Amino acid sequence: WHQRSELDKLADLPRELDDELTRLDQDFWVSSQKLKDIVERFRGELDEGLSKDGQNIPMNVSWVPSLPTGREKGTILTLDLGGTNLRLCKVVLHGDEAHGEEKSTLDQEQYKLPEELKTGDAESLWAFIAEKVETFVKDKGLDKEYSTANPMPFGFTFSYPATQERVDHAVLQTWTKGFDIKGVEGQDVAKQLRDKIEEKSLPVELVCVINDTVGAMIASAYNDPKTVIGAIFGTGCNAAYMASLSDVTKLDPSDERIAAMQDTNTSTEHQKMAINCEYGAFDNSHRVLPRTKYDRQIDADSPRPGEQAFEKLSAGLYLGEIFRLILVDLADRGLVFKDQDTKNLHESYALDTGFLSQIEEDESPGFSQTRDLFHAKLGLQPMDVEIELSRRLAELIAVRGARLCACGPAAICTKEGITAGHVAADGSVANKHPKFKRRWTKALGEVLDWKKEWGEDGDGARGPIKITSAEDGSGVGCAIIAAMEIARRNKTRG
Ligand code: GLC
Repeated sequence: WHQRSELDKLADLPRELDDELTRLDQDFWVSSQKLKDIVERFRGELDEGLSKDGQNIPMNVSWVPSLPTGREKGTILTLDLGGTNLRLCKVVLHGDEAHGEEKSTLDQEQYKLPEELKTGDAESLWAFIAEKVETFVKDKGLDKEYSTANPMPFGFTFSYPATQERVDHAVLQTWTKGFDIKGVEGQDVAKQLRDKIEEKSLPVELVCVINDTVGAMIASAYNDPKTVIGAIFGTGCNAAYMASLSDVTKLDPSDERIAAMQDTNTSTEHQKMAINCEYGAFDNSHRVLPRTKYDRQIDADSPRPGEQAFEKLSAGLYLGEIFRLILVDLADRGLVFKDQDTKNLHESYALDTGFLSQIEEDESPGFSQTRDLFHAKLGLQPMDVEIELSRRLAELIAVRGARLCACGPAAICTKEGITAGHVAADGSVANKHPKFKRRWTKALGEVLDWKKEWGEDGDGARGPIKITSAEDGSGVGCAIIAAMEIARRNKTRG
């Protein structure tokens, strides 16, 4: 066994299932050495992305030139579109007037995105969004305070890869995370949204479009100056950091936008730029990642085969699906759930990451909770050996995911010479999976050889780079970026 299970045992597996599990353990285990190889290749791809457009990892320029001072103030409307939900917030930033109280206050509403919208067309998407904005503005009485002549500043967290010419412009490169809405790729989402706002005469003015990773970094840095990276380990997997502008060689230094952005007191060498890595696309050319046949199948069945190679092994959208595909494989070969109706099990994306976390967390006698879950979600009555197998599978898949998730930040830190600080993480996997943070930290320690300095226990807990829970990036982070942008504009005008 490559991986000693941490789980209590329920039953001994029969020989044939034990052999299968041994095979899976081999396929899913990522050794310390393999992690190091991945991180090295990762560093290479980060550099390539900074020097040229159109690489595996896009390294998107966000036009956010600095971390916040913590003094930013204002009242901003924010919209968050990133996966399952649509969220609108009225954010009030108190900045240095917080006086020990919360530095921001939030009034928010969340709406579930109708499933059919995710594969529909641009018109339906923007119409749905504009309608929610209109309702929110009315319900919160914002139409009394603002008008089209005196609009409320509006920030948009759009958590997909986009090419930005400015902070209020964002051309979608490709949909990720299973979205497939026609008529948006290659288009400026800021313009599409703005057109709808105008059509409906909504009293808001779009100031910025940001990625959730940049938002997480900025919101976290507003409160925690040790923040070095903003990361999302959720439906998707990605991170942002502040690069030195001089390292972003794909930008022409004589570009007027850079001069306009530049603080007169800072030289180019010291001028920074937030980069949204979009490293879900790492290893799209399949050089280093250990892909199993289940991973290949997920890719082949996805709306964009060949894209987001790294994300498909590590992000929350896919972990439950990997687990399901393994069970389907075993069931089709008559090794599990014999004589049971596996119709529901054969349904794509029938299981989410929450299912896996619940299995790993189950401490109920005889794992009755897991039994109930199988029944409720799949209509199956698992035997003890099937429960035992499922628990081990959930563990193998989640451990591989967490170890791979450490590679992105490890690559950024080694590349940038960052030796201490906080990786502010958000997303369902980071926040809801009970063992993610510990596994992630342990893997980071293995890559960075922490054992030598930070003790032999190898769990990385005492290492100098820590994973923290990010502040609300898509709400507060987006509002801070809008406030920074407004201040910058006022300064250039003034
Ligand atoms: C996907 C998106 C990226 C986002 C991440 C986390 O990778 O392409 O923009 O940051 O998911 O939500």
